[in-house]
Amino acid sequence: MEPLKWWQTGVVYQIYPRSFQDTDGDGVGDLEGIIRRLDYLVWLGVDALWLSPIYPSPMADFGYDISDFTGIDPLFGALDSFDHLIAAAHARGLRVILDFVPNHTSDRHPWFLESRSGRHNPKRDWYLWRDPGPGGGPPNNWRSRFGGNAWTYDRVSGQYYCHSFLPEQPDLNWRNREVRGAMYRVLRFWLDRGVDGFRVDVISSLIKDDHFRDNPINPGWQPGQRDVHRLIQLYSADRPEVHDIITEMRALLETYPGDRVLIGEIYLPIERLVAYYGADLKGVHLPFNFQLIGVDWDPIGIARIIREYESALPEGGWPNWVLGNHDQPRIATRVGPAQARVAAMLLLTLRGTPTLYYGDELGMEDVPIPPERIRDPWALREPGFGRDGARTPMPWDPSPNGGFTTGQPWLPLAADHAVRCVKRLASEPRSTLSLYRQLLALRRAHPALVHGRYVPLEVKGRVLAYMRQSEGERAVVALNFGPEPVAMEGAPFANGRVLLSTELNREPKSASPLILGGNEGVILIT
Ligand code: NOJ
Repeated sequence: MEPLKWWQTGVVYQIYPRSFQDTDGDGVGDLEGIIRRLDYLVWLGVDALWLSPIYPSPMADFGYDISDFTGIDPLFGALDSFDHLIAAAHARGLRVILDFVPNHTSDRHPWFLESRSGRHNPKRDWYLWRDPGPGGGPPNNWRSRFGGNAWTYDRVSGQYYCHSFLPEQPDLNWRNREVRGAMYRVLRFWLDRGVDGFRVDVISSLIKDDHFRDNPINPGWQPGQRDVHRLIQLYSADRPEVHDIITEMRALLETYPGDRVLIGEIYLPIERLVAYYGADLKGVHLPFNFQLIGVDWDPIGIARIIREYESALPEGGWPNWVLGNHDQPRIATRVGPAQARVAAMLLLTLRGTPTLYYGDELGMEDVPIPPERIRDPWALREPGFGRDGARTPMPWDPSPNGGFTTGQPWLPLAADHAVRCVKRLASEPRSTLSLYRQLLALRRAHPALVHGRYVPLEVKGRVLAYMRQSEGERAVVALNFGPEPVAMEGAPFANGRVLLSTELNREPKSASPLILGGNEGVILIT
């Protein structure tokens, strides 16, 4: 067997740069701040950083609207601070993964300014322009993922342009060869600068139906649900031709040394998700597996997801798991503080590459955002939804702004930040931060947790148990999703040595039967 690559054995840590560490007092995090905190990430025990976008942007969608794909927004720094960051991360053995946003540009990107300047502009076809529909309205019924129509009318040329997100984020036309060439040059630009890979934004949406057919109505949609879900995204996403593009991106990465990684942001059911490994595994290395985000927090449902996912993986396809990101409510808010610790043990003991979201290692919860401080354009367009609560500043110390900034933070810090901050939790032996750190250390020390097969054991009451089995080592994981203690009987749980409990308070010797406390997870080595 081939030795595993770094992106298979390692753990990815997502940084939302606006909220990690500010160093110039403008209330927004920057690259210099990330550099200052690299030693924290090494101490924590992660292997790679994924940075949400840091490129020049009008910030209509906080960097996911890019006006220059090969620069750094002055808010965050400059190219030399980026080079410094790469060098400083590599010197510490940390990899750096950038966010690549190929589906759309900013409406202020020079390409779009040219494209919209007239029907005969050479860049007209770089975006998705269409004549009005038969009644004079939009060309079809597609909806934006931030609510409302996916088409905006341009009076100058009398045509509509398509935007899967904000009107300020026009969609590129990936059927156009020049667009592909230009975007591949962007990939090369950053690969040449030493990045270790890309997380590719909405990769499954790059190609739209060539006839722009109407999406079917979703019969299950109910008022109060997201506007975009009124329709089934049949013709606007997950089109078969998208795989050709991903194969091209992958082939480009393969021309570089050092096992650069391609990770795809793909919200699809398992059977469609795994197609993104590509024919002969020539697609993305890791199609983000978001199954743990949507699932009810219940051991039967989670066991089923693990089983379905494991059995749907193509031969040689490497699994991965995610608990949260900058678009989702935080795990501690979804499942509560006690279960957030169980979730950490689940994430870091399942088979495959885990991705952590900054602050989850502190047990951070979503911060309630007063209406006047809402910044997320989605929340402003579609009230009741929004992502600001999960994007608040990282609390480093108990000082008023948590050591995040000397200025006014762009989003409020959590009310409990004086106690839930790195400085405090690092010195509390039973804190969530200590738990994450120990889990990450265990993965390094015990090959079964990285290389081992996944062997389901049982779901008993509210307990999910499984084994990770490698040559010479078996790690048994038992996770109690309920508040009541449960006695685990039988061979796998007897006579093991307790490596770790989520409570961080167990003696190494396990009793028989093993009594799992309420909301407790345990790893045994047998
Ligand atoms: C997915 C990103 O994760 C999200 O934050 C962004 O708003 C959209 N794509 C548009 O780029």
